[in-house]
Amino acid sequence: MKFFVDTADTADIADLAATGLLDGVTTNPSLIAKAGRDFIEVTREICGLVSGPVSAEVVALDHEGMMREAEVLRKIADNVCIKVPLTIDGLKTCKALTSDGTMVNVTLCFSATQALLAAKAGASFISPFVGRHDDNGFDGMQLIADIRLIYDNYDYGTEILVASVRHGIHVLEAAKIGADVMTAPPAVIRGLFKHVLTDKGIEGFLADWAKTGQAIG
Ligand code: G3P
Repeated sequence: MKFFVDTADTADIADLAATGLLDGVTTNPSLIAKAGRDFIEVTREICGLVSGPVSAEVVALDHEGMMREAEVLRKIADNVCIKVPLTIDGLKTCKALTSDGTMVNVTLCFSATQALLAAKAGASFISPFVGRHDDNGFDGMQLIADIRLIYDNYDYGTEILVASVRHGIHVLEAAKIGADVMTAPPAVIRGLFKHVLTDKGIEGFLADWAKTGQAIG
């Protein structure tokens, strides 16, 4: 399963990239606003921190406007992935860009039939928002399972990118279903490394080791 981080904070991205476990980055207009930096400049910096896909989202709502913005964004770096919303214009743009060899992440997906449309439009990634789905009384993980089933039925190559991840259980369930990618905020990814029994185990081993009076090397 690929791990993307959902942030435009370059310090967090650099820190997580240093683990060697980071496969890409996703951003959106809200995350760019939170970073408080120039969109093009911060996206260029992020593209230099990871070799995998870096999603940069268009803000135009019409196809022509999306194509114009995508043209600017794809010049930033080879690993830019253009993020478009799941609308008719967004999917028209997806079709045009992917036919031309550009990576596209279709975002704001809330139904399996929307995901089917994105696959038909040749999307590189589909981003179902599990957390926002749960927040609104739907079952986010059932959505992932439904998309997995449909994509496998027809051998679609579109990767399921589980987004709006809020906690480790989302990651666990997504991995059990066989989602291709998950994107999560830095704190959620850091939380995956931690377990109270790991900390307790280290503490016990170090206490016993100190009693031996030995050193390694
Ligand atoms: O980047 C898209 C998605 O991951 C947003 O998550 O937490 O704003 O619902 P959230």
